[in-house]
Amino acid sequence: MLDRINQLAEEIKSLAASTAEEAEQLRIKYLSKKGLVSQLFDEFKTIPNEQKREVGKVLNVLKTQALDKINELKEGFASNGQGESGADLTLPGTSFELGSRHPLSIVKNEIVDIFARLGFTVADGPEIEDDHHVFEALNFPPEHPARDMQDTFFIATNPDVLLRTHTSSVQVRVMEKQQPPIRAIFPGRVFRNEAISARAHCIFHQVEGLYIDKNVSFADLKQTLLYFSKELFGADTKIRLRPSYFPFTEPSAEMDISCSLCGGKGCNVCKYTGWVEILGCGMVDPAVLEASGIDSNEYTGFAFGMGIERITMLKYQIKDIRLFFENDKRFLDQFKSAE
Ligand code: PHE
Repeated sequence: MLDRINQLAEEIKSLAASTAEEAEQLRIKYLSKKGLVSQLFDEFKTIPNEQKREVGKVLNVLKTQALDKINELKEGFASNGQGESGADLTLPGTSFELGSRHPLSIVKNEIVDIFARLGFTVADGPEIEDDHHVFEALNFPPEHPARDMQDTFFIATNPDVLLRTHTSSVQVRVMEKQQPPIRAIFPGRVFRNEAISARAHCIFHQVEGLYIDKNVSFADLKQTLLYFSKELFGADTKIRLRPSYFPFTEPSAEMDISCSLCGGKGCNVCKYTGWVEILGCGMVDPAVLEASGIDSNEYTGFAFGMGIERITMLKYQIKDIRLFFENDKRFLDQFKSAE
């Protein structure tokens, strides 16, 4: 038996493995329960007692040597870059791509930042609204066409549960809760029952602004919008106000900016007029202030509302509004560096 132990010891000394897998196979061959070393231990039980002392000693040395050898082989693989499975751990990992902000979020954040510099805070309200907040408190007469099924999405058959068609509803919610001074903007999603085309969508985003205090004038409105336009579209930007009509403002206006693409010379984006419309605005109608519990003898205010899609399309020369909602990675990836 001693001979066989010595023979196995020699064999084990010269063991070599070229992969972690092979080293594991060797461990199984020599050291597992049925392995060659373990077999010798089984045999050991059967030899005469007077030999046990000597043989036992040698056998224990063999087991230690075998364990050391196998460990040494395995460690070799761990430190030369290979894991137990033989994989090369020094290879670069599989990278995963970082996403980017949606262009509408980028522009919304920019708008919020600009108005924050003028002291405007941000508020929001529900997308599912009632007639009072979207229409009635904003001075829309009962027969006004905007309330019509043509424009408004109603939830189920209840005419008093609807999707807001503009963020002006948040004006009402804020005025109901808070007395002036109020200086806030309300970014949000709005819904209109419109046919989807390159220029229009049934879901889009607006930013509403509201400023109410003592002695707020139309000049304040104009200067606020001029500052905003220069900040967003560049210092050379000019603005132009055209008389318009909204039920909740009096007087009302629509604002154009000088075309940011051609600088006012005329191009196909501004339809060769040099101007593009970006928002509606006006002085808050006293009846609207009163409807929400604000004394119109003491306070005046202005409001404005703009479409984020429209502004983003102008800023980045995007020709089709549907691109914002398709989530095509080739489109979104172009805004990775725009934040
Ligand atoms: N709510 C108007 C719209 O959706 C925009 C607007 C807001 C106009 C505030 C005037 C004042 O078209």
